Amino acid sequence: MAARSIEELQKRYSSLGKTGPRRGPGPRGRGPRPKGKPKNSRATVSRLVGYIAAYRFRLIFVLLCMLVSTLTSLAGSYLLRDVINALDRDADPSKSILLKIFMPEAVATGVLSDSDRLWCLGVILLVLACIYAVGIVSSYLQARLMIAVSQNAVEKIRNDLFKKLQRLPVRYFDSHPTGELMSRFTNDVDAIDMMINSTVTSLISGTISLVGTFIMMIYTNWVLTLITVAFVPLYLFGGGLIGKKSSKYYTAQQSALGAVNGYIEETVTGSKVVKVFNHEEVCIEEFEILNDDMRDKQFKAQFFGGVMGPIMHNLSNLSFAVTAGVGGLLCLFAGFDVGGLTVFCNYARQFSFPINNISMQMSTIFSALAGAERVFNVMDEAPETADLPDAVEMKDVRGEVVLDNVSFGYVPGQTVLRHISLYAHAGQKIAFVGSTGAGKTTITNLLNRFYDIEEGTITIDGVDIRSYRRDSLRENIAMVLQDTHLFTGTIMENIRYGRPDASDEEVIAAAKTASAHSFIMRLEHGYRTRLEGDGANLSQGQRQLLNIARAALSKAPILVLDEATSSVDTRTERHIEKGMDRLMKNRTTFVIAHRLSTVRNANAIMVLEQGEIIERGNHDQLLALGGRYYELYTGKKELD
Ligand SMILES: Nc1ncnc2c1ncn2[C@@H]1O[C@H](COP(=O)(O)OP(=O)(O)OP(=O)(O)O)[C@@H](O)[C@H]1O
Ligand SMILES: [Mg+2]
Repeated sequence: MAARSIEELQKRYSSLGKTGPRRGPGPRGRGPRPKGKPKNSRATVSRLVGYIAAYRFRLIFVLLCMLVSTLTSLAGSYLLRDVINALDRDADPSKSILLKIFMPEAVATGVLSDSDRLWCLGVILLVLACIYAVGIVSSYLQARLMIAVSQNAVEKIRNDLFKKLQRLPVRYFDSHPTGELMSRFTNDVDAIDMMINSTVTSLISGTISLVGTFIMMIYTNWVLTLITVAFVPLYLFGGGLIGKKSSKYYTAQQSALGAVNGYIEETVTGSKVVKVFNHEEVCIEEFEILNDDMRDKQFKAQFFGGVMGPIMHNLSNLSFAVTAGVGGLLCLFAGFDVGGLTVFCNYARQFSFPINNISMQMSTIFSALAGAERVFNVMDEAPETADLPDAVEMKDVRGEVVLDNVSFGYVPGQTVLRHISLYAHAGQKIAFVGSTGAGKTTITNLLNRFYDIEEGTITIDGVDIRSYRRDSLRENIAMVLQDTHLFTGTIMENIRYGRPDASDEEVIAAAKTASAHSFIMRLEHGYRTRLEGDGANLSQGQRQLLNIARAALSKAPILVLDEATSSVDTRTERHIEKGMDRLMKNRTTFVIAHRLSTVRNANAIMVLEQGEIIERGNHDQLLALGGRYYELYTGKKELD
């Protein structure tokens, strides 16, 4: 097979990549940004504000700290004027605030000795040191508190999102890939965190410092202020232009990164299939194509990200040079003091900084808002329909299950089950057989209300299942799902998932029933063996045995076994069957099996074909009928 084109690869793997590992920060310390523009920014912002509003007292304190640190920095800068004027014999002492305070007579007479000047310098430096110390402390407090606020807010967002995830109906997960949902938790929440923590802080403190600096500039010299302000449109234009470009390339870089991650993920998880079909060379070639593309896009993204700083810096240098030139002329011809000029140049620099910063951060804010919107969209999804107001607890369940004329489709317009009616007496074993895709699993999905039906009724002990509380319903139906799943933890913990209050002895008894005990005991740590990655260190059949043990532990009066023993050898299967039969004596059991020998002893066997029950009866009756079951059982169908 030849390697595919970059377009094809990008298209295919870009969305997969969202499940990839979290990526490191880009230049300017940001991770990749989620794509897209927010649609309803105002609503999103007010919801985000809701998350941080809980910390309003801390936020007020943060604001105070920002104010103090900006003021100290302004004051500190201003005192440089005094430092220079104190050392400048030609300077007019009346222009120095501290000289006026500490040496009023000298300032009045205009005569200052060198020792006076040195003494003054010492005092000024001491005052400066105090001011900067206050500045450092307030900056420290501000950063610390703001990080705490943003982390708490983000923690709450993650909790709310996860809570929502647990309440979403199964249907939601059918149409939303895992990778998509994962990226809500990683990329999108990260972007929000970044925005609350750094962008918002720099916006607020930038604005404070902008206003403060502006006032100080006017106070120092209004002519020079006009010159500095004349450069502002240039900053905004330059910053905005580069910001837009760099955000475009960051987006491109992110999707390239996604494609590379997606490709790695797929080839690693499918490494055996890659080897079986000798696809290593093609994989290497395709990876090189993707990697090459990523290098191009990263180059552009990092170039524009990196070039931004120097360009803006040079722009502000230009303004600096003009200001300094004009300021020099003012010193020569208009009695402006050198100290004042120095201070002004300093302010001019401080003035351009927040403007650059704000114009550069606009795109970050937009992408964070877009991320927040996606997070809130998940939170706003309709949860599983609420229980009816008069829903009841299932008590003393006998296990009489009736499906009456049930029709169902996952997607509107595509019926999967048609007019299914069946009656299971308490304690009976009912089997579903039929070809792949016939709808067997679908029936069991309806029993415990993974999906709600629109046509027909399902009753347990004569009561519509929708009249029961959902948690109580699920508590009373133990299921071994067709897809096994084990959680990270010990074998003991995994089996106990079936009934959290079960004792160790009960867990072991359940494992014995499921014929899992002997293989568990052969493991080095027995029941304390840790499982990781969905039980990757076990065989497929062993995983099934643990899932059966989990269901066996549950005391539910209704049991569903969907292909529970499909990967287990026939001898073990017979053992399990015996164990389960004992266990299931007074429980209603639904069994789905392709291996028909396992359903022979069922009270009733339903043969499904394309969503309809086409034959029903016990094993002997169905064989005598000589229909579909007979074909399946004798293997005659395969010969046709
Ligand atoms: N989540 C879903 N969304 C949409 N369609 C689905 C979904 N799950 C199953 N289907 C469709 O419903 C039909 C019945 O599927 P079901 O899983 O019930 O088959 P099955 O009889 O259990 O097959 P198998 O023996 O392979 O397990 C299939 O055509 C399948 O494509
Ligand atoms: Mg199935």
